[in-house]
Amino acid sequence: MKAVLLDTDDRYRLTELDEPTPGPGQVAIRVAYAGVQWGDTMVRDGHFPVPRPFVPGFEASGIITAVGEGVDAGRIGEPVAVLTQAGAYAEVVLADAVLALGIGDLPQRTAAGLGWGAPTAYDLINTAAHVRPGDRVLIHAAAGSVGTLAVQFARSAGAGRIVGVVGNEARAAYAAQFGYDELLLREDFPARLGDEEFDVILDPVGGSTRRAGLGQLAPHGRLVAYGNLSTFEPVLADTNNLLMQGQSLVTYNSNLLSRTHPERLADSARRALALVADGRVRVDITAEYELADLAVAVQRLAEGATHGKSILRIA
Ligand SMILES: NC(=O)c1ccc[n+]([C@@H]2O[C@H](COP(=O)([O-])OP(=O)(O)OC[C@H]3O[C@@H](n4cnc5c(N)ncnc54)[C@H](OP(=O)(O)O)[C@@H]3O)[C@@H](O)[C@H]2O)c1
Repeated sequence: MKAVLLDTDDRYRLTELDEPTPGPGQVAIRVAYAGVQWGDTMVRDGHFPVPRPFVPGFEASGIITAVGEGVDAGRIGEPVAVLTQAGAYAEVVLADAVLALGIGDLPQRTAAGLGWGAPTAYDLINTAAHVRPGDRVLIHAAAGSVGTLAVQFARSAGAGRIVGVVGNEARAAYAAQFGYDELLLREDFPARLGDEEFDVILDPVGGSTRRAGLGQLAPHGRLVAYGNLSTFEPVLADTNNLLMQGQSLVTYNSNLLSRTHPERLADSARRALALVADGRVRVDITAEYELADLAVAVQRLAEGATHGKSILRIA
């Protein structure tokens, strides 16, 4: 099969490999599309200790072609969206059966766009921050794949005012179509907000943004830290101060959840899928590449030249 290897010299190489065979609890999927995500830039740049060479790719859609021991053979032929730890930039990928989610009639192209972003955005809003009707919500990286889904899930959960933070005017114009009440430029955060408070803040940025966010939390507010786009510098919070205001600093890690409680992540992914399937939430695929163009796709994401979701067409 064709696959892309990320080699020891940090370069992607299109190559031929043997097709993998599913082990116990696994399924094999003939990949139609694979999603590109921020994790690709992190792995490429060496922020995760992944041994090289290996086949990256963490999310895909396709058809189940084989099942391992303990998996219902009746699933062969089922169209699915899969979440994986590696291997999706290939014609065949293996996934845990529990994280191979039936997509019914949803187009495979759309399903690939859900990826890790959809269950993550769903959980950020509904599980980690537990958005309630009327809650005021602030979303950083508002034009990205998680941000554009999170604003829609927040709306579905009945949020009140939702403010997004983006890198430039073009990204503000793009993000506006997803239902933000206001969009701020990153350079204007937090000054432009004055003393406005939020019940929920979603923060994949870290550093000074996270410290400033804690200062914009309303009593009983929740700040969810789920990434470090700007820096890995530690952010310390005074729990006594948080306690006085009943506030919470929460973290969310979907990758860890997939290993400790995969059925919980699968449940959130299914709920996200259902909202997309019935048209209440939209996944916006803005760039489609060939497998051989993976390096370009990841570089464009890393440079901030994209918005919404990028995918690779594989079959
Ligand atoms: N914890 C989890 O479970 C989990 C799961 C999935 C994703 N994530 C994290 O969520 C974040 C977003 O992922 P994604 O898939 O939505 O990415 P994406 O679609 O690639 O978008 C990345 C976003 O980050 C913004 N950005 C880039 N550099 C930034 C910086 N220095 N400061 C502030 N914003 C910056 C970009 O937009 P602007 O230029 O407009 O700001 C863009 O909207 C990443 O940090 C990713 O690792 C975490």
